[in-house]
Amino acid sequence: MSQKPTKRSPATRALRLFILTIAVGLPLYSIGVWMYQVAPIYRGTAPVVVTVLYLPARILGLVGFVLMFYQFVLSARFSFMESAFTRMELVRKHKTIGKIGFLAILLHGTAMLAYDLFTAGEIWLDLPKTMGLVALVLLSVAVAVAIYWKPLGLSNKQWMRIHRLAYLVFPLAFYHGITLGSTLNTSRPLLGLFYGMTAIYLVILVRRVRKAVSESRRGRKT
Ligand code: HEM
Repeated sequence: MSQKPTKRSPATRALRLFILTIAVGLPLYSIGVWMYQVAPIYRGTAPVVVTVLYLPARILGLVGFVLMFYQFVLSARFSFMESAFTRMELVRKHKTIGKIGFLAILLHGTAMLAYDLFTAGEIWLDLPKTMGLVALVLLSVAVAVAIYWKPLGLSNKQWMRIHRLAYLVFPLAFYHGITLGSTLNTSRPLLGLFYGMTAIYLVILVRRVRKAVSESRRGRKT
């Protein structure tokens, strides 16, 4: 069945374009900082493991973090998002970006662990790295239940509850990134961007908690 093309007002089209430009711009900006401020430091002098594992893992960490942040915005039901995109479009984007972001973060974590093994022959875990590892485990559970809830025999309510683990992942990954990340600590504007995303995440978290509290109060009354 062919779908009828949706007629959008010029204001909606402009808002969509604005949101999409920002959405594409933020990961590109992170990559740009990495390319122009980090990569040149290693040019010509880096051993193969640095070029093949460590440096790409850093871009993946930065981009993965930004994509993970988008997941909260996409599901936050902000009115400006809902006036630019339909619910269905937001859900579809949440699913696609979730998979790409998770893959980037998974590759980041495994490449960093492999880098430790290659260079030091062991994996040593300090607090910030352990927080990254815990974040990756929690994120893997949150993603796995979202994709495999049916074969796992979970109800809609059960997998959604477990999926909320993602809210714990963000602060852990933020602490991990700002304490360990040398790209983040090379560029003040990029670090500022990470603090900005965290401020928006906190707004989303507060809205979620308030909604959950008012729903449970309403539930108790009826
Ligand atoms: C097994 C789990 C993980 C390990 C072993 C790990 C390891 C590392 C290491 C060693 C760094 C420092 C790189 C440097 O020298 O600058 C780093 C940075 C970073 N990590 Fe992870 N990480 C893990 C999980 C995560 C997760 C779940 C996220 C969430 C998105 C994440 C996001 C970041 C970010 C944003 C940076 C900053 C990159 C930079 O500034 O260059 N990491 N990670």
